[in-house]
Amino acid sequence: MAGVHDLATAVLRRFDAETAHGLALAGLKAGFGPRNRHTFEPNLATRLAGLTLVNPIGLAAGFDKNAEVADAMLSAGFGFVECGTTTPRPQPGNPRPRLFRLRADRAVINRLGFNNAGQEVFATRLAARRGRPGVVGANIGANKDSEDRVADYVAGLRRLWGLADYFTINISSPNTPGLRDLQGEGALDDLLGAIAEARAGLNGKAPIFLKVAPDLIAGQVETIVAASVAHAMSGLIVANTTLARPASLTDARRDEAGGLSGAPLMAPSTRLLAEFHAAAAGRLALIGVGGIGSGAEAYAKIRAGAAAVQLYSALAFEGPGLVARVRADLALRLQADGFASIAEASGSR
Ligand code: FNR
Repeated sequence: MAGVHDLATAVLRRFDAETAHGLALAGLKAGFGPRNRHTFEPNLATRLAGLTLVNPIGLAAGFDKNAEVADAMLSAGFGFVECGTTTPRPQPGNPRPRLFRLRADRAVINRLGFNNAGQEVFATRLAARRGRPGVVGANIGANKDSEDRVADYVAGLRRLWGLADYFTINISSPNTPGLRDLQGEGALDDLLGAIAEARAGLNGKAPIFLKVAPDLIAGQVETIVAASVAHAMSGLIVANTTLARPASLTDARRDEAGGLSGAPLMAPSTRLLAEFHAAAAGRLALIGVGGIGSGAEAYAKIRAGAAAVQLYSALAFEGPGLVARVRADLALRLQADGFASIAEASGSR
């Protein structure tokens, strides 16, 4: 059925990026997505911070902000799906246009600004799918007009606890003014301290990840690792979109404001991942994200230290059939290099 989805992707390309995304979500909700869940490759089954994954290829946050299509994307072949970012109260995000495809660069720029329907809607959707197979994470954020951002993260954790298999604390969106300041040493310690305290009062276990920006300053890798370990975070997601505009960009839309993702993010985010791998020295599970559009790129992130990976932007160019291709290629590469599992290959370069 790949042909049908390739055709749908070609048709969607003719619409502006946000309209195309809305149509893709509608199609997925209506059950028109690909079905590749049950043909997984045995050497791709793996563990991530205690979670069991059928494969290590995850859908990155931002595709399914309101937890509408998690099951459809698991069926499309993802090993896990991260929904969100969700904020306590609904908010409209920035004015349109706010999402741009840079076709020539196989990149995307977005300044959506956490447009989402809020955590009541998100919680209701996750509750409705409770008990279904597949790992689904909740990526939580703070409202733009919040007077206490730390309280927003704590509220998200409490409201969604028990409904998601893991949580991501997203302090790295470039589109909520000041949000990335939470990555600074003192602010991060306060935030993660509050998260750890909230978690201690909740029953049951779910891994909590911190998602970081690729635009860090000297020394920040070490301080982020230290704070994450001190407050018993499970791991890090490296990385979110970048404010950088590499000189290689050729598309006329390169100067749009917002976070850049896709192919140009592959090299810098993988370098940063390797830095986090060295600094964490096995104490944190790492999810590698940024610029993955092939099995070779997923493999490069794993070799750089990722236990699992995520992708998003490449879907806009390749459609959901990409997942099965990445998976098949990754399985062959592991085999060719003599690795019996993802865990064996992780960090082995
Ligand atoms: C994102 N990303 C994102 N991340 C996040 O933590 N919360 C979010 O709400 C969003 N929203 C979002 C929207 C759009 C349109 C894009 C393209 C991206 C970032 C995403 O999860 C990922 O970290 C980066 O896009 C890098 O991966 P790719 O896209 O290069 O594979």
